[in-house]
Amino acid sequence: MHTYEAQTFTIPALDGISQKQVDVHLGLYEGYVKHINLLREQIHDLESEDAEKYAFAIESIRRRMGFEFNGMRMHEFYFPQWEGGASPEPRGSTLDQALSEKYGSWDGFISHLKKVAMSRGSGWATLAWDAKGKTPHIWWTTDHELGTLADVRVLLALDMWEHSYMVDYVPAEKAKYVEAFLKNLNWKTVENRFAQL
Ligand SMILES: [Fe+2]
Repeated sequence: MHTYEAQTFTIPALDGISQKQVDVHLGLYEGYVKHINLLREQIHDLESEDAEKYAFAIESIRRRMGFEFNGMRMHEFYFPQWEGGASPEPRGSTLDQALSEKYGSWDGFISHLKKVAMSRGSGWATLAWDAKGKTPHIWWTTDHELGTLADVRVLLALDMWEHSYMVDYVPAEKAKYVEAFLKNLNWKTVENRFAQL
């Protein structure tokens, strides 16, 4: 059976996000990779054992797939954004032009991203490009999979689960985590994702 392997990321020392925070978070990511494999293995085993008898159990496990799979994949968008170190915001780039068309300006885009990131609860603030509609979207995903959009290409993924900042910040300080996340961001990675559309 096909299995997923946890990716490794070369993350430099970050400003405002500790090594312990990153290490704890990477461990959680590996848990999602483990569980997407486990989930598929368990469905396979139950189907082999007695698909009819275990139909309800199989269905229940299958309902968890979006949570575990996106939990893996969203972190694979998240961690590489720090690889290579921070780079300046790409003001004046084609990415800036595309975002400014919708959000008014680069600052308007950043402001909207921060507003979505401050949504209550655990989830993700994501910037993606809708190729079909030829427009960017920033939206909130509860957990890893609830309310997410189909058929869009992720450009920037901002983890807003408490586990992504609570080694360094309390929940009331999560705006500081958002600032630190952005300060350390390698915007070239975001630009490359946009260029590869
Ligand atoms: Fe996370």
